[in-house]
Amino acid sequence: MPRHIAVIMDGNGRWAQKRLMPRTMGHRAGMSALKRVVKTMGELNIPYLTVFAFSTENWRRPSEEVDYLMNLLVEYLLKELQELHDNNVKVNILGDYYSLPQRCRLQLQDALRKTRHNSGLNFNIALNYGARNEILTAARKAAALVASGQLSVDAIDEDLFSSFLFTSQLPDPDLLIRTAGEMRLSNFLLWQIAYTEIWVTERLWPDFTESDLMEAIAAYKGRDRRFGGLSRQGEDHA
Ligand code: IPE
Ligand code: IPE
Ligand code: MG
Repeated sequence: MPRHIAVIMDGNGRWAQKRLMPRTMGHRAGMSALKRVVKTMGELNIPYLTVFAFSTENWRRPSEEVDYLMNLLVEYLLKELQELHDNNVKVNILGDYYSLPQRCRLQLQDALRKTRHNSGLNFNIALNYGARNEILTAARKAAALVASGQLSVDAIDEDLFSSFLFTSQLPDPDLLIRTAGEMRLSNFLLWQIAYTEIWVTERLWPDFTESDLMEAIAAYKGRDRRFGGLSRQGEDHA
């Protein structure tokens, strides 16, 4: 079983367009899909889920859509926080949420505080997240420590660098799911997915169900993860 599943939740707009509805309705339907996936992950006892909810590039969208997404986030947390907490879910945010509107920030801080001691599913929400920005910020941290004499250049290894990322407390994802068919990473977890198995489905995010998740996991189980080495079979014949 994968320990950490990451999801690029894409296709909300297309889902709505197909129904001749405004894009915002797709985001609302996407929220229900997220609830289903969080629930299933808990049932499957998979310890880490990371979802891409809003990228640093998504600010380029019309302000009405951005506002709607921010409000939806607050609404989601207001409605779901108690249930997440009751289910022992620990909420974590990846990304610069300090620069989000104040009502979002306060709601997020509330969720982090309330669930911080929970020991069930680690539910990471990537919000105002961009991987290049994350890597740059880590590089700046390392450079500042070197400049002030607190760190030697040789001490900067992969583990130390990883500890400067938003994901410092998380194992790398085993499986990355992208819905809505796009074959790209869109600036998501570039450092962390070096050896992650990628599974893309045409299914639009609001239509994503438990059985799609099971299909992704089944595909993952069939993969031969070599990490640059040889497959099990190869080793046997070595
Ligand atoms: C994903 O759905 C949600 C966010 C990026 C916030 P989209 O809104 O990107 O949906 P499409 O890609 O336009 O269909
Ligand atoms: C990626 O989807 C971001 C999120 C799912 C939050 P986008 O819809 O923003 O990605 P592009 O623009 O198609 O690459
Ligand atoms: Mg999209």
